[in-house]
Amino acid sequence: MKPVKVGLLGLGTVGTGVVRIVEGHQEDLSSQVGSPIIIEKVAVKNLEKARSIEIEQSKLTEDPWEVIRDPEIDVIVEVMGGVEAAKEYILEALDRGKHIVTANKDLMALYGSEIMAKALEKQCDVFYEASVAGGIPIIRTLIEGFSSDRIVKIMGIVNGTTNYILSKMSQEDASYEDVLKEAQELGYAEADPTSDVEGLDAARKMVILGTLGFRTNVELSDVDVRGISSVSKEDIAYAKKLGYEMKLLGIADRQDDEFSVSVQPTMVKKSHPIAAVNGVFNAVYVHGEAVGETMFYGAGAGEMPTATSVVADLVAVVKNLKLGVNGLKAMVPYKTKKLKSDEQ
Ligand code: NAP
Ligand code: HSE
Repeated sequence: MKPVKVGLLGLGTVGTGVVRIVEGHQEDLSSQVGSPIIIEKVAVKNLEKARSIEIEQSKLTEDPWEVIRDPEIDVIVEVMGGVEAAKEYILEALDRGKHIVTANKDLMALYGSEIMAKALEKQCDVFYEASVAGGIPIIRTLIEGFSSDRIVKIMGIVNGTTNYILSKMSQEDASYEDVLKEAQELGYAEADPTSDVEGLDAARKMVILGTLGFRTNVELSDVDVRGISSVSKEDIAYAKKLGYEMKLLGIADRQDDEFSVSVQPTMVKKSHPIAAVNGVFNAVYVHGEAVGETMFYGAGAGEMPTATSVVADLVAVVKNLKLGVNGLKAMVPYKTKKLKSDEQ
């Protein structure tokens, strides 16, 4: 059984979880795919940094190109973040016939179509389940589970950091700044948490969900975005008094061939299941014409939930490799349809 060799770009919160799962669940993973999965090389920014896992120093490099160019490596797992450099690495890896797993929603929201076009050209897989809602398999659900239906609405809490902040501000006498710091220490926040608190991270995730759910190209510029930095403790307390919880909601609506997508702090009636989603948890409500209402719930950020999705993608890629087929050909450049925001 020839091992499948993986090149990991990034060994931070998510990368560390990926190593823990690949090593900790090795027996189970290899029995599923029929060969061992080996983390062959890992690119990091700083070789001297202390790590919370044991990893052979000889596997580490500060040069991501060393990982991309290694002919022994079959699959690249990108959990480094950033956009332009990550895009370059992924396109080059695809050119070299390597398959990709990424957790990078910034990249997929901006360049998903271009990356998928290259993947189709090279007959390689690009899987990105961890890019939206951490441990909830919502991307597979939209692509596979609802392929038979016509989705009319996707609504949800898709950012763990802001939900953690709003929940703590609602349930405890905690300050915005202190809770944000906690979310950063727990590994939930982005390297620059501005994208979390200003709603951009949620907007990027809604671009991915809207594109997949409505089978059209939703662009970031189509999303009306407002974050939580202007939400005060008083706003949250007032909402509560009226019987509501304050949540940062992403909402994507379809009416006939028109779409609207937004991210806004929203007062949600306490009786709605989304109002009870607290802490780092995310929930995605999907309404399809045939299926009706469905809702998906789970940890939306953090080391192990996110790594669960990344490694599940890795298993899917390796299964496809063995069968000689490609998998989730999602995020293909769909024909763009009209968005409501086009008319404004
Ligand atoms: P992180 O903790 O900041 O880790 C980033 C890793 O990438 C670090 O190991 C860093 O090296 C390495 N790195 C950064 N720039 C590099 C460069 N130029 N060359 C080589 N290595 C480089 O980030 P994270 O939280 O794991 O997130 C990684 C990705 O997953 C991001 O796209 C994020 O949006 C996405 N994501 C995160 C979560 C989450 O809960 N954290 C959930 C879903 C998706 P050093 O260790 O040496 O600094
Ligand atoms: N910063 C993101 C969040 C990580 O808080 O939801 C998961 O995508």
